[in-house]
Amino acid sequence: MNRRNLVVSDVDGTLLGDDAALAELRQWYDQRRDSLTLVYSSGRFYHSVLESIRSTLLPEPAAVIGGVGTDVHLFGEEVPLPFWHDHFQGWDPSGVRAVMAAFAELEPQPEHLQSDYKLSYYGYDLSPAFLEHLQSQLEYRGYQAQIVYSSQRDLDVLPQGANKGTAAGFIADHLGYRREDVIVCGDSGNDLAMFEQPLVRGVVVANAHSELKALRSERVYHAARSYAAGVLEGLQHWCRWHD
Ligand code: GLC
Ligand code: MG
Repeated sequence: MNRRNLVVSDVDGTLLGDDAALAELRQWYDQRRDSLTLVYSSGRFYHSVLESIRSTLLPEPAAVIGGVGTDVHLFGEEVPLPFWHDHFQGWDPSGVRAVMAAFAELEPQPEHLQSDYKLSYYGYDLSPAFLEHLQSQLEYRGYQAQIVYSSQRDLDVLPQGANKGTAAGFIADHLGYRREDVIVCGDSGNDLAMFEQPLVRGVVVANAHSELKALRSERVYHAARSYAAGVLEGLQHWCRWHD
């Protein structure tokens, strides 16, 4: 008999991307609802993820982490869990925006993808040196911010301590799961922080970007299959390991 596991999975490019694969995962998951609790973690905000749950075969989760770890909603709750934002007191979004505005390489993403806690830009094929320079400029101006770069295109600036990894730890604590019973799944850079949480096991889908493909750890399973089929493969791998 398996212990109950908490699966914290990215949505776009991980669970979504291949409808037939999602149907296969859904059928498998429907028989294992008693041993797996699902949480979605997305770069998108809560309502946008809800829309995907309504319009696809994504099962209803226990909670949704939105905005790259900056918002945590229990499923069906309009108001995000308040204690999470308490960690980011003193964060000054307009000051951070002013620093970022000096870089011609960065174009702000549309307004509906922005919040006070998630400042997002497009910046194509940025080098590690440029990203380090941005980070040091923020530090130099006294901002406690972190830069998360995904898919060689999306650059998010978040309050220090807010990311998909810390949010996964927060929801695991909130729902009463030990880190050893958490399995994280992802495909791109904003998922990296989930894999860096101590003790959690991970699944990298085959279609993942290089930032996750490069992970080497006995706690990370690299699926041969893509999208939801890779998630299914990884969950089967880790759940068997637990028998
Ligand atoms: C999602 C969000 C976008 C963000 C990206 C990477 O695509 O909509 O704002 O930059 O994830 O985190
Ligand atoms: Mg993704």
